[in-house]
Amino acid sequence: MSETIPTVGRLPVVGSALEVGSDPFDFLEGAAAEYGPVFRVSIPGLSFVCYADAKLVERALVTERDRYRKDDRERDLLGGFLGEGALTARGERWERGRRQVQPAFTPGRIAAYAEEMVGQTERVVGEWADCEVIDVHEEATRLTLSIVASTMFGLDSLEEAGTIAERVDAITDRFAPSRLPVEIPLWAPTPANRRYRRAAGDLEEIVDRLIDRREPGDEDLCATLLSAMEAGEITESEVRDQLLTVLLAGHETTAVALTYTLASLATHPAEYDRVAREVRSAGELSARTDLPRTDAAIREALRLYPPSYLLFRQTERSDTVAGYRIPPDTRVVCPQWAIHRDPRYYDAPTAFRPGRWSKDRERPDFAYFPFGGGKRACIGRRFALLELRLAVASILRSVDLEATPDTEPSPTPALTCRPDGPVPLRVRR
Ligand code: HEM
Repeated sequence: MSETIPTVGRLPVVGSALEVGSDPFDFLEGAAAEYGPVFRVSIPGLSFVCYADAKLVERALVTERDRYRKDDRERDLLGGFLGEGALTARGERWERGRRQVQPAFTPGRIAAYAEEMVGQTERVVGEWADCEVIDVHEEATRLTLSIVASTMFGLDSLEEAGTIAERVDAITDRFAPSRLPVEIPLWAPTPANRRYRRAAGDLEEIVDRLIDRREPGDEDLCATLLSAMEAGEITESEVRDQLLTVLLAGHETTAVALTYTLASLATHPAEYDRVAREVRSAGELSARTDLPRTDAAIREALRLYPPSYLLFRQTERSDTVAGYRIPPDTRVVCPQWAIHRDPRYYDAPTAFRPGRWSKDRERPDFAYFPFGGGKRACIGRRFALLELRLAVASILRSVDLEATPDTEPSPTPALTCRPDGPVPLRVRR
């Protein structure tokens, strides 16, 4: 087998930028069929190897995970302000940090958040007027932020919600593959970099203020970390890193998932009716309420629009995959977007069909990995799935949501694949 990894559209100077830069989602969708399971993408300043195959992803995340570490670029871009938080820390610091935040994510604790999740959703929905056209992405962001604030920080109201959402946008934009055919380093004095640095500073200040507003004695994540700090087990800066991480990782991803779920349902009336009927006949909502159709719609939206659409790793030691040698320090990308839409794993892969999940079809485990996998898998998975289920159910039992001609969202390649503008839905009471 060939020793040279196929390289996408090799052009002098600009490398693969022309193929990838204009529409990375479109590029990713056909890439495995065109280039095979392993291919290289290069732009000046950044080059990575893409594993567009479920078995290879499993290898990088699980079976050979000691050969792979989290990517240095992600750490450089996010670590500056998330520091030693669970998302960016490594090695012993990561293990210690993950243990410290774990108590907030046990199945028992998560079930106890259900009432708050339903209450917060009802409050947001209560503000929508009949016939009003809402931007569902903005509303979903407001909701997921207030759920993180109340369950993790113990705060009833979050005056800073608008500012946080804006600053997080500036941070996640910094991850977008550049429209220019080069990777711009973080120290360069560009407007995007300046916005990024200002946003990171503002978020740190906001979290410090949130910590100051805390009443002692509660059981949420913030209180648990503060008591660990008082007992000398954790430093103040570690507390801030963990809280910033949960604030950042815990709301935008879920808001994006909720947006695509509701927009997909509104644009697929038969699926919408099935879910609406189910949630309206479900009785009181709790962590135990069984809502299989709602879950299937969420699962399908997470397949088609995985909020985290690329996972970044870097080889610690060399590996050999599909006959190619991958040397140490190679950047590797595991592309949820491409694998979730691969016709080898899904019939009619670009169609929104929640019913596909009730039919048995053999697929490799990592044909679906919206929450990553292996030991660095998302700690908030259970929390997010419950929040999504309860939010969809509480919304659709209170109001109807109708698509408008502009509802179809168009994803933007930032840190998450959030919509590139407002996603309008009309409310009917
Ligand atoms: C639909 C919603 C969500 C999606 C799609 C998602 C996706 C992911 C993915 C793919 C990773 C792994 C990243 C990697 O391997 O490089 C991750 C990690 C993480 N997520 Fe989530 N996430 C979601 C919701 C949440 C929530 C609600 C929280 C917290 C409240 C959270 C907290 C974290 C943390 C702390 C990590 C780092 C885990 C570690 O490295 O130990 N996430 N998430």
